[in-house]
Amino acid sequence: MCGIIAYSGKDNAVPYLVDGIKNLEYRGYDSFGCALIDKGNIIVRKDVGDTASVLNKYRIIKNFSNQGMFHTRWATHGGISKENAHPLTDCKGEIAVVHNGIIENWQDIKVSLDGHRFVSQTDTEVIPHLLEERLSRGDSMERALRAVFNEIKGASSFVVMRKGDSNMYAVKHGAPLVLGLGKNGFFVSSDIPSFLKYTNKVVFLHDGDLVVFNQNSVRIKNLLNKKDKHDVHTVDISPGSLDKGKYRHFMLKEINEQSKLLKSFENYDFSKVRLAASKIRSAHRVYLVGAGSSFHAAAYGALILRKSGIDAIAIQGQDIQNFSRLFERNDVFVIISQSGETADLIRSLQLMKGFRIGIINTEGSYLSRNVDLVINMMAGIEKAVAATKSFMNTMVLLEMINSYANGSSESAMHDLKLLNLNLYSLFVPSVLSAIKRIAEELKDDGDIFYVGRDYGYLISLEGALKMKEVSYIHAEAFDLSTIKHGPLALISQGSKVIAAVTEPVEETFYGLEEIKARGGHIIGISPSNSTVFDEFVHVPEAGVFSFVPLVIVAQLISYYTAVKRGINPDKPRNLAKSVTVN
Ligand code: AGP
Repeated sequence: MCGIIAYSGKDNAVPYLVDGIKNLEYRGYDSFGCALIDKGNIIVRKDVGDTASVLNKYRIIKNFSNQGMFHTRWATHGGISKENAHPLTDCKGEIAVVHNGIIENWQDIKVSLDGHRFVSQTDTEVIPHLLEERLSRGDSMERALRAVFNEIKGASSFVVMRKGDSNMYAVKHGAPLVLGLGKNGFFVSSDIPSFLKYTNKVVFLHDGDLVVFNQNSVRIKNLLNKKDKHDVHTVDISPGSLDKGKYRHFMLKEINEQSKLLKSFENYDFSKVRLAASKIRSAHRVYLVGAGSSFHAAAYGALILRKSGIDAIAIQGQDIQNFSRLFERNDVFVIISQSGETADLIRSLQLMKGFRIGIINTEGSYLSRNVDLVINMMAGIEKAVAATKSFMNTMVLLEMINSYANGSSESAMHDLKLLNLNLYSLFVPSVLSAIKRIAEELKDDGDIFYVGRDYGYLISLEGALKMKEVSYIHAEAFDLSTIKHGPLALISQGSKVIAAVTEPVEETFYGLEEIKARGGHIIGISPSNSTVFDEFVHVPEAGVFSFVPLVIVAQLISYYTAVKRGINPDKPRNLAKSVTVN
């Protein structure tokens, strides 16, 4: 869950790396560090804080170096400190390493490196010392890297620079790493957006790949002796999508982009969706798996499939192993992941015996390359840590899969068009002011409750997660049908309760009345007003797509609550967008 970008080429690496690392900050922003060459020596600069502040502090932009590597850290082992920031070096400061992943057996390795001087509490630091040890015994760098690769356990990709060596070395071991082929040099990075301005020619690396690159050439060798091909892909992503444009934050930009994305489904090629639906129809059972927001989408997908009479169940990524003994060959798995990198899912992929359909946003990601059928989320690059448009597109795709599976695709398309006609009504000033007013009321609360029934409950789960992650307010979702079995005890005078009402049915209002009777202050998001609501945000009804406006309003409430609390919602504390460690 760190970001790596490295460059070696005829140009000065520094401007490329400075620019590139900004597009990797979503992967971690506890601390930043870099290694560059200066008068034949490796210089390492690093510190706690975001990239921009460390870059300024050490005036890094003033350097000239034909090779270099930058790193943004999301701490796993060792606190957030200057010593623990990457790069980590060997005893002499001649080998520098940046790393993404976890070395599970680092403590054993550290013990074996008797006599080496360790200065950090990280797992990463064993790599430069292991290399130092091997090189001191006369191994070539490539031989030493092979030995390190074989010794370390766990997903760990890393890049190495060595004093006096014109080559740089990158090893892909679980965590993502891609190679970019520039005009005058080569990039190795955790993700394509970091170098997209300079090249869209990309090689997706395989596990075990060792990339040896310098100013003039690049070579890939597989340390697992696999013979997989390394095709050059031309990536079709506009570099403009990497900027915030007129928006203050990526999260707001991405929320707003949803109208356009929803419209584009009217001309979407649904052939893969149809294929997925036919596999699902003939499945013994359908398991939908995901983590966080992707799990919420999975839960929604499972509910709509069950309502179509299909045996479907949603499982959290980390729980897949507990279900694995139930899996059968004719089961179908729907694996949902924006990043395509989530460790829980990757770890359990081999356990999923049947046909595996991936709904994935990131081209070339591990999951997208290792499932039987990939349905692209088509959400474009999502930079804010909080999933918004990727969640929405997944929900739309699931609804379409379900509609093809139950023979109602024409009516679903009709609902989608109706939704697109009416969606503008959410972005008008009166609705936005109502949302901002609600955010103002919520911003000082300690606890917020999201409630709903049936679909509304699943939307509430997502609403509460969004609120937690960007505003840091404790928000919890409850199913209105079950609040009497316990959660009602939490309600007292003035408790803020957001009700996500998909269908204004009687049962929903019984539950809300019970909350109101205990002093709850109810904010209704609903297609129709009710006397039970203390506040009300009107959302258009759109048949099977009625969840869309509710989700957008929930996203906006979270966004504005975060902003009013002075939090940058794009980079919530403690979180990273791609969760590549277990
Ligand atoms: C969503 O807002 C979160 N950032 C998080 O829950 C996310 O959905 C989860 O980590 C799964 O990620 P994925 O879709 O990339 O697999």
